[in-house]
Amino acid sequence: MANITFIEASGQETTINLPDGWSLMQGATANGVDGIVGECGGSCACATCHCYVDEARLGDLPPPSEAELDMLENVASERRPNSRLACQIKASAALEGLIVHLPETQE
Ligand code: FES
Repeated sequence: MANITFIEASGQETTINLPDGWSLMQGATANGVDGIVGECGGSCACATCHCYVDEARLGDLPPPSEAELDMLENVASERRPNSRLACQIKASAALEGLIVHLPETQE
């Protein structure tokens, strides 16, 4: 379980208590966070779940897979060093208090 805060490009903040094993994309879409689309349902095939992870916490996340790195080439907004795909990040206690910023657009 982890409390994750999503901050949309508009400044709108939503904090979600996410059960272990749920992806950040699942949590965001199930709770009406508009800044994440999740078009492919989490199979790392659409890049519409792009997010910017708090840089200070990047080390708390498993590194991106090759498939995620490939898909990050296709994001609609600027790719940054802290860009990740929210469907590839699973909640666990290690992510408690994580802050995730969302880009202007996903498509
Ligand atoms: S939901 Fe499609 S790549 Fe994450």
